[in-house]
Amino acid sequence: MKLEVQLKEHSYPIWIGQKALSHIADYIDPGRRYAIVTDDHVPRQWVDLLIEQLENACVISFEHGEKNKSLKTYEYVQEQLIEKRFGRKDAVIALGGGVVGDLAGFVAATYMRGIDFYNIPTTLLSQVDSSVGGKVAVDMGTVKNIIGAFYQPKAVIIDPDTLSTLDPRQVRSGAMEALKMGLILDEELVKEFEKDQLDYETIIARSIDLKRMIVENDEKELGQRAILNFGHTIGHAIEGAYAQVPYYHGECVGMGMLFFIEDEKLKERVRAILDRFEIPSVPDYDPDTLLSYIVHDKKGSADSVKTIRVRKAGSYAMQDMTYDEIRTVLLRGGV
Ligand SMILES: NC(=O)c1ccc[n+]([C@@H]2O[C@H](COP(=O)([O-])OP(=O)(O)OC[C@H]3O[C@@H](n4cnc5c(N)ncnc54)[C@H](O)[C@@H]3O)[C@@H](O)[C@H]2O)c1
Ligand SMILES: [Zn+2]
Repeated sequence: MKLEVQLKEHSYPIWIGQKALSHIADYIDPGRRYAIVTDDHVPRQWVDLLIEQLENACVISFEHGEKNKSLKTYEYVQEQLIEKRFGRKDAVIALGGGVVGDLAGFVAATYMRGIDFYNIPTTLLSQVDSSVGGKVAVDMGTVKNIIGAFYQPKAVIIDPDTLSTLDPRQVRSGAMEALKMGLILDEELVKEFEKDQLDYETIIARSIDLKRMIVENDEKELGQRAILNFGHTIGHAIEGAYAQVPYYHGECVGMGMLFFIEDEKLKERVRAILDRFEIPSVPDYDPDTLLSYIVHDKKGSADSVKTIRVRKAGSYAMQDMTYDEIRTVLLRGGV
């Protein structure tokens, strides 16, 4: 299946299909020179599958984990490109999750002022969300994504088969970003989560198509893209406050969404989906502690927070809430 992100001269295709990775020449020119950027937890079978089909590709691998989405790794990958004498006509392929995609994309955006970038996301989170949209970045210390750019890939190639090697908890956590997309924009996508048999290819396709639409409307995140933060205000706070647990990001988004679903029947449905996906229930929390994380998230720069609420599946309302109002939401609880 092919979707097309329409951004004038930055338009690009998204290819989605089982075995796509086994037929890479259908999507990219196998004769070009590529640096495949990946991390050491992406199974070798996917790296090898790609290399076998490309005539002139090398691999640049770094240690997995968010802590390595850093300037240090960025510098390492740039050094490798220089050492291997990569030129303007060569290209970077990201093969991995959101960490690899964000880092490799930022490398590609800045190496020789920008070389071609292809994204092959291999986690569900990156397949349903982060691979499309052109936000590329590294972290600085504990500040996430603070150094980055908007840089669109030349193509995104999604092969749901790569999920076969992914830790099931990562799959379930990533699914929450797709559920989020459905809750704000597409009830049919929510229904996919309620079917006896889950069809990840359909979930990915519907979800990434919604992301495509949002990005087309708001490439540089000036407005509508903020709706993607549904579930994230309180979700991020739980993620921060319970960092020692630790919860996965998507799990926290799942918990965070419950606070802003305003219809009891819909909340019931979502709770059933969260159970099915083994999302932990919201831990006992102190509202003021979570609030302090929310204030910190905003870096103290605003006295209100843009929140997204859902009353009916597939539609949303945006509202600026004061910290006091958020406190009330926290006091009321997510259940
Ligand atoms: N650019 C955006 O718009 C955007 C949006 C959302 C999130 N993000 C970023 O995405 C990152 C999180 O991405 P993530 O959840 O994919 O985490 P991740 O990239 O760290 O991947 C999770 C783990 O899975 C491993 N892995 C990847 N593919 C695998 C596979 N097929 N089989 C087995 N293991 C595999 C990785 O090596 C890693 O250890 C964060 O840094 C976040 O900031 C970016
Ligand atoms: Zn998220």
